Amino acid sequence: MSNFTLRGGARLIGSIAAQGSKNAALPILAATLLVKEPVRLKNCPRLRDVGNMLHILESLGCTVFREGDDLIVDSGTATNCVLPTALSRELRSSIFLLGSVLSRFAEADAPYPGGCEIGNRPIDLHLQGLRRLNAEIAERGGRIHCRGANLIGAIVDFEYPSVGATENIMLAACRAKGETVIRNAACEPEIVDLQGFLNACGFRVSGAGTPTIAIEGVEEGHGATYRIMPDRIVTGTYLIGAAITRGDVTVTGTYPDTVDALLAKLSACGCDVTRDKQAVRVAAKDRPRRIDFTETRPYPGFPTDLQPQLFSLLSVADGTSILKENVFENRFKHAQELKKMGAENRILDRAAIITGVERLHGANVIAHDLRGGAALVLAGLSAEGDTVIEHIERIERGYEQMDLAIKALGGTVARKDERIGKEEQTLRAGAERLPVR
Ligand code: UD1
Repeated sequence: MSNFTLRGGARLIGSIAAQGSKNAALPILAATLLVKEPVRLKNCPRLRDVGNMLHILESLGCTVFREGDDLIVDSGTATNCVLPTALSRELRSSIFLLGSVLSRFAEADAPYPGGCEIGNRPIDLHLQGLRRLNAEIAERGGRIHCRGANLIGAIVDFEYPSVGATENIMLAACRAKGETVIRNAACEPEIVDLQGFLNACGFRVSGAGTPTIAIEGVEEGHGATYRIMPDRIVTGTYLIGAAITRGDVTVTGTYPDTVDALLAKLSACGCDVTRDKQAVRVAAKDRPRRIDFTETRPYPGFPTDLQPQLFSLLSVADGTSILKENVFENRFKHAQELKKMGAENRILDRAAIITGVERLHGANVIAHDLRGGAALVLAGLSAEGDTVIEHIERIERGYEQMDLAIKALGGTVARKDERIGKEEQTLRAGAERLPVR
């Protein structure tokens, strides 16, 4: 277990470069299995989740290494279609590998992903979509066995625009026979990035970013060099950091359009928002104003992955706000932790009623999940006194060297590793243990 000790009170001021997107990197890494030539990825973040995905790819026989800042994955050496149990359970996104392993080996065997901290997270839509493409799927003994020697393009109509299921079916369809059309597809920017990568590898995908995606199957793709998009959730987190500390933060190398829904909320809170082509600045002088109502929705709605961080901001706003979580059923664990810091909130089913207090105070709190943990960091930066956040390894699943980023912006934070073993250090460093040629 590792922890952060934060001293609140300093305004976050300065400029920070956005890291590469975790949620774009993970499906793109899964997609590397579709081609038998090396793929060079730029801007791939060094994170626990990425490190786990790379270890899974290695266990399937891929060769993975870093060359400077680039990550190289060569799936030409892959031989194995069985996903390792422990690593796959740790990383829910390993489910994306079903589509690409199946496409590559005509067979895939994966452990059933369990529930997680933010909700049940079933995979029925993934499996329905794969079945539509003519895959045979058997679920037994907690594992999923897929066979797909003859994947055939089809119309896949999703009942709900699941991000992961859309990505999984895109991957399975690239080398299937004929055309696949995904209807009611998720429109998230990470799906557009996956399409960009697949097309760079010679596949034929169009429509990503809209609810209808078409994939024309081709026999073989080829290697490519691709730059992963900036992380919109990390961008949003540091911008909320400016708002909650009454600071002035510019995030560079990012796509401002992908955080539109958040910027609208920050303007409503009274922040000054300025945007450039690839940079966005948020400055705040006063206590944030309350916001009547915010609800999370699939893109371009307000993202569920920024709900906890907005929750922290509204906890110090000048009145009562309502925040409704529509995407995941159990994503308010940060509410009880914020209460330890003096926040006033009540959860009624999927809605939080948040009455802002003048100032939070430091406390010992627990990061129950990735984004909820980030919300506690923001709260700690604005609170009076010291806040200790336990289990920051959960935050480090998605934020690259968050302690250093906070310090660079003038915040005060100390990171402490307790009981740190070699494996833990490896995971923290993401891909670093991989050989560098
Ligand atoms: C992805 C993101 C995650 C983000 C989420 C929503 C990655 C690695 N993760 O997760 O950070 O919070 O999108 O923007 O990109 N569902 C089903 N059946 C399914 C699949 C999903 O019922 O087969 C439900 C889920 O339980 C959830 C909702 O659909 O309630 C949204 O899930 P989904 O869009 O699939 O999210 P993920 O791809 O898991």
